[in-house]
Amino acid sequence: MAILVTGGAGYIGSHTVKELLKRKYEVIVFDNLSTGHRELVPGGHLVEADLRSLEEVRDVFRRYPVEAVMHFAALMQVGESYADPQKYYVHNLVSSLNLLQAMLEAEVKYFIFSSSAAVYGQPLEIPIREGHPLQPINPYGASKFMVERMLPDYDRAYGLRYVSLRYFNAAGADPEGQLGEWHDPETHLIPNILLHLLGRNPGFQVFGQDFPTADGTAIRDYIHVTDLARAHVLALEKLKAGEPSQVVNLGSSRGYSVLEVIRAAEKVTGKRVSLKFGPRRPGDVPVLLASSEKAETLLGWKREFSDLEFIIETAWKWHLTH
Ligand code: UFG
Repeated sequence: MAILVTGGAGYIGSHTVKELLKRKYEVIVFDNLSTGHRELVPGGHLVEADLRSLEEVRDVFRRYPVEAVMHFAALMQVGESYADPQKYYVHNLVSSLNLLQAMLEAEVKYFIFSSSAAVYGQPLEIPIREGHPLQPINPYGASKFMVERMLPDYDRAYGLRYVSLRYFNAAGADPEGQLGEWHDPETHLIPNILLHLLGRNPGFQVFGQDFPTADGTAIRDYIHVTDLARAHVLALEKLKAGEPSQVVNLGSSRGYSVLEVIRAAEKVTGKRVSLKFGPRRPGDVPVLLASSEKAETLLGWKREFSDLEFIIETAWKWHLTH
């Protein structure tokens, strides 16, 4: 039996494929390579197909004995989702519906869903627990919320067992140096700082210096991508052991401001950022910080790599070689 990994040629997907292969799972990667990269698929079998086509999705379930699905494939740029919401609802919502339909037809019962802290919207309390109201403030977050909203209905009616994993700020790269973050365009803080230090992002700016935080810059919860990847394997194992569906935050429970991240990057690399401040990015909230207690107690998740300097060290190694 195989695990079908949609978006397995992407950043978090590829790191999870690697963890699955280490644990001797058979892996089928389903990716249209629109934002993913063939070079990032660390093994298993790559099916180049598109989730927007129900026929292409059905076909993969006909060809392979799929036991469970991990669904990473999605678009994830908040700014772009404001500008073109239709694109986000098609790629993130219609694609998920196709996948769920094909799963029901093939009687596949286990689903691990890549959700996001973006489902919470403006935090009402920090740290954010899973019971926090879900009020997404952009189409990206709304598309993730809509899939999450459907899952309990599928559980009740069809016995679909799922774990919805709400990622905070995924960061870092494979400690073994094989995989890393490769987005085009890059929008995330840590790679943007590192690209700047490599001379490839001269326009790097800190977005906003008037947030209500100690140094005026926004605070985020950075979590190492390999820790995230391992949480997916734990979630799968819980479902296979007969445990019920769950919704779980994945963060480090520790926040860093943009300036703190820049200082840490300067320390790790021995280089200096030429600091420029720009306006806030639309939709950016002052503080996003997870409570990850539930992941620890329910999944037995332990973070091993999420120390900020180690995150930056692994990302730096990746950027130096790619
Ligand atoms: N930032 C900069 N300069 C940059 C890039 C980012 O100052 O060049 C700042 C942002 O304004 C933000 C912080 O660094 O304050 C982190 O930004 P990222 O883009 O790295 O991450 P976000 O917190 O904005 O986004 C993440 C995920 C999204 C998700 C969102 C909300 O990447 O997919 O969290 O959950 F939608």
